[in-house]
Amino acid sequence: MILPGDGIGPEIVEQAMAVLEVASGKFNLGLSFEQGLIGGSSIDVHGEPLTDETLKAAGECDAVLLGAVGGPQWDTLEREIRPEKGLLKIRSGLGLYANLRPAILYPQLADASSLKPEVVSGLDILIVRELTGGIYFGEPRGIQTLENGERQGFNTYVYSESEIERIARSAFEAAQKRSGKLCSVDKANVLEVTVLWREVLDRLAPEYPDVELSHMYVDNAAMQLVRAPKQFDVMVTGNMFGDILSDAAAMLTGSIGMLPSASLNESGFGLYEPCHGSAPDIAGRGIANPLATILSAAMMLRYSLNMSEAAEAIEAAVSKVLEQGLRTADIYTEGSQKVTTAEMGAAVVAAL
Ligand code: NAD
Ligand code: IPM
Ligand code: MN
Repeated sequence: MILPGDGIGPEIVEQAMAVLEVASGKFNLGLSFEQGLIGGSSIDVHGEPLTDETLKAAGECDAVLLGAVGGPQWDTLEREIRPEKGLLKIRSGLGLYANLRPAILYPQLADASSLKPEVVSGLDILIVRELTGGIYFGEPRGIQTLENGERQGFNTYVYSESEIERIARSAFEAAQKRSGKLCSVDKANVLEVTVLWREVLDRLAPEYPDVELSHMYVDNAAMQLVRAPKQFDVMVTGNMFGDILSDAAAMLTGSIGMLPSASLNESGFGLYEPCHGSAPDIAGRGIANPLATILSAAMMLRYSLNMSEAAEAIEAAVSKVLEQGLRTADIYTEGSQKVTTAEMGAAVVAAL
């Protein structure tokens, strides 16, 4: 199912679909697409950011490709029907607890990173973010009025052992397939929930003797990510820390417009989306970078559809257009050729 969403969502998804259609023809994949509404575009039609029918239909597809949700016109709605709630509902409703966010620097973009080329060259990190628990979903939550009339906002940061264990196993397994280095990020010096997080990781470690597990506090991890990011291979962390650290890691690769993601459930079903949002500041101008979404589509072919040959071809096509010097505004550097969203998509199609 294709869920374009809001803001730049439809613009970037259009390019990813064009790439998928060409890949389908070239590799005889027989892909077919169903479209649905999520976020503000669903609120405008149905009064809610994700209907139960769309959720059900999405779960019945082989995979989901999503653009982004949100925008200022929906920001004043009550929290329960805001666009972001649609995203949380599909993640939680389909049990997509394992969010994989690979931050890879294409060598052609070393100059586009905000860090020095030598700090980021060869960067290849995988952030494994827990996606259906933690402070995003913990109860109780809300805003209440105290006896003195003052209002108080509160959320609950909670993880059960089983929730920690399953995301930890995803991360250990990912590390086994890579360099065997896993860094778990927590705040165990302050928060009990992450004391338990650390305990569970340590308890599982002997089952993965080929993985070297380390722990780091989140504040230090944020600093280390911009100081010496190549010390990391796989990082595993909770929902909110993972949200923040992956945006920081994105910038190492040149732009948030380069970071794809996969969100998987227990049976391997997946939703694929760029890590960035709906970018209201540039929506409608045709300048958004579609590569994170195109690379998410490649992840979808690899993880959910068992079509790794086509996935690799798309990734190679992306690499080729970067080699040709084509850049959307967010990754533009002097001497390269500035292109629109549609031109970038067309170039990937042509390279494919
Ligand atoms: P954002 O990621 O939308 O934008 C942050 C900055 O990055 C902006 O300057 C934007 O122009 C730029 N940017 C993002 N994607 C880009 C791309 N593909 N190409 C070029 N530039 C890009 O984050 P925000 O501004 O904090 O949030 C905007 C809205 O998006 C909010 O409503 C937020 O809730 C929502 N959001 C949705 C998702 C999602 O759907 N997964 C993720 C993050 C934020
Ligand atoms: C993301 C976004 C979402 C999150 C928001 C829009 C709910 O920031 O996908 O990274 O916080 O998970
Ligand atoms: Mn985010």
